[in-house]
Amino acid sequence: MKQPKVLIVGSINMDMIFYGPHGDEMKPNGCLNFDSVGYYCGGKGANQAVAAARLGAEVYLVSAVGNDANGARIQELLHSGNVHLDFIPALDDVQTGLSGIFMMRDGSYVGTNVRGANDSITPEMVERALDAEAFDMVLMQMEMPLETVYRTYELATERKIPVILDAGPAMKIPLERLDGIFMVSPNEAETEALTGIEVKNEETAQKAAEYIREHARAEYVLLKLGGKGSYFYDGKAGRIFPACKVDFVDTTGAGDTFTTALMIRLCNGDDMEKAIRYATVAAGICVSRRGGISSIPDREEIELQIKNMYDEKGE
Ligand code: ATP
Ligand code: RIB
Repeated sequence: MKQPKVLIVGSINMDMIFYGPHGDEMKPNGCLNFDSVGYYCGGKGANQAVAAARLGAEVYLVSAVGNDANGARIQELLHSGNVHLDFIPALDDVQTGLSGIFMMRDGSYVGTNVRGANDSITPEMVERALDAEAFDMVLMQMEMPLETVYRTYELATERKIPVILDAGPAMKIPLERLDGIFMVSPNEAETEALTGIEVKNEETAQKAAEYIREHARAEYVLLKLGGKGSYFYDGKAGRIFPACKVDFVDTTGAGDTFTTALMIRLCNGDDMEKAIRYATVAAGICVSRRGGISSIPDREEIELQIKNMYDEKGE
């Protein structure tokens, strides 16, 4: 089987993840005690790039870091994780992106970002990458200038490369700028920001998916619904794919792992249903441990997990 070659366009952050109390204890003008804090390399672009490499793809990431210790540390990690660094400059006068994540015991979280160098990811950098290599698919998110998001779509489309938008962080964008995109995949908060529809059940999931499909004329919509799984819509029928039953520890990077695993399996020739099931197992492993990049499984681990699940079912 041919090794997939993919381009990821997106952010690099140093993540500080605070592990602590129940979500409803978080109140304005108060002080909360957390149990512990961990420093992890992350950012949606970096998480997705490492996930793609761990799943066997050749991976280029278009991103940016500051000329500082966090940037150097993350570049080193990406390099050792087999991600090409050709399009990740270390820039003077800006900080490497930083994310403070408050991960609550009930599974809710609050994320805070300083975008720093991620604001310097430009369409020209994306164009250089697309001119340099022939990619099977492009995956992007929105933790960078929106003009780069829209131009990435246009530049890839000119080259007939399918594009997936992992629609985080939550914001309202003119979906028409992505007219004809292969797939849009938001989580629950992102879905509400894009559509104004709160996803409470299958009916509202379907309405939100229809809205996105109509406005972006997307071929596919795949809503990520946390512990409830995902909702897939292809313009004909909508369908829930339940999440794996796991002991949740930290959801950071779950969405990145999910969308990337789906993309790589599609590149490998899986049909959509098989690819979503694989992505669900990959994301289930990710939420069972701490951090973003640190919690992303590789192909062997996912395949072993799938085998164990079938053995348990006696299939
Ligand atoms: P991120 O924290 O990376 O931003 P996200 O909010 O984009 O994640 P989620 O909807 O939380 O994405 O999760 C993506 C996928 O991960 C889900 O569709 C599901 O398959 C899996 N997942 C998330 N939370 C859990 C959980 N508590 N138990 C099992 N699987 C989960
Ligand atoms: O998707 C998870 C990522 O979002 C974290 O690693 C954090 O950096 C935020 O960008």
